[in-house]
Amino acid sequence: MKGWLLPLARWAFWLAFLVVLAGSVVRMTGSGMGCPDWPKCFGLLVPPTEVEQVTYHEGETYASGRMLLVDDRFWVAQKEVVAGDFEAERERGDWSLYTKHDYHIFHPLHTWVEFINRLLGALAGVPALLLLMASAWARDLRTTVLALGAVLALGLVAWLGKLVVDGNLLPHSITIHMMGALAILAIDSVIIQRLKGARVRWHRSARWGLFVALAVTLVQILTGTEVRETVDVLLAEGLGRPDLAHQLASSQVLYLMHRSGYWVVLLSHLFWMWRMGPFGQGHVLRARNATLALLAAQMTTGLLFAYGAFPAWAQPVHLVMGVGLFLTTWGLFWRTRTN
Ligand code: HEM
Repeated sequence: MKGWLLPLARWAFWLAFLVVLAGSVVRMTGSGMGCPDWPKCFGLLVPPTEVEQVTYHEGETYASGRMLLVDDRFWVAQKEVVAGDFEAERERGDWSLYTKHDYHIFHPLHTWVEFINRLLGALAGVPALLLLMASAWARDLRTTVLALGAVLALGLVAWLGKLVVDGNLLPHSITIHMMGALAILAIDSVIIQRLKGARVRWHRSARWGLFVALAVTLVQILTGTEVRETVDVLLAEGLGRPDLAHQLASSQVLYLMHRSGYWVVLLSHLFWMWRMGPFGQGHVLRARNATLALLAAQMTTGLLFAYGAFPAWAQPVHLVMGVGLFLTTWGLFWRTRTN
């Protein structure tokens, strides 16, 4: 059973990473409301692909919870309805107007992008649960506790997703969501590194430097996610992309902190790279090079936001690279120890 733990932890990690990636694609394509209900989509297990499936047809039976588009509004079946006369059924209260969001559009692409995102989220739960069971079976207490933490964090992230779909627009919900996702990935990463064993000895200052760089990167991710919440609001208000950076710079201190924070992040990472000296073999060197590449990617996408036209594609790239930067150094932290 012990032999299963590492592959399961890797699966859990990569599927959770895919969920973060899918989440950013959802946002890039504006598909967040592609499924107005949760956990079903338009009241269906397999979401609709064409508008015919969400329009009213006499003689058809609609299960409770089913959503239809009638007169450019979404209506939700309150019980099983055999369609006959929509007006009469509506008056009887068989259908009620969907009011959780002011969103009444059926867009099959958005629906499917959001649905695939949810499927991946559910799928990510499978190796996470298997890992929890396998580690308990193998009597590996530490892995069990960590795996339990990852499962709980996964539950929190899924619950937050539901709250957002249900219209409970929690302040900072995206930031909390992001921190939840990051927690899952960080825990899975610790499990992987622990199971791999054999830590590399590092000079105390290098490992402390790495720790500080991690903390600084985490703050950078936090401020970035807050900036992103403002960006979403500005875009929803109709502000053009080329004007976004100017607007952010003149109205949000966090944006300025995030923009300048880059230099602190860069210096903190350069410090541990310098201090690690000759203790870099194999995977450590790969992690260092990946960190440098990710720092360059953050700068490039950041420049596209600040001085370019704030291209939509750069948003998921910036997000995934930022998370990748944190995870690369986090993994390295758990692969090293002080001598
Ligand atoms: C190592 C450095 C950096 C890290 C780790 C980082 C990380 C992040 C993260 C995680 C987000 C949230 C993305 C999302 O939720 O979709 C974000 C957003 C953002 N960052 Fe950075 N960032 C860095 C550098 C920069 C730089 C140099 C700039 C230049 C101005 C910048 C500008 C922005 C902007 C404008 C947003 C909002 C983008 C959006 O709405 O998607 N970042 N950052």
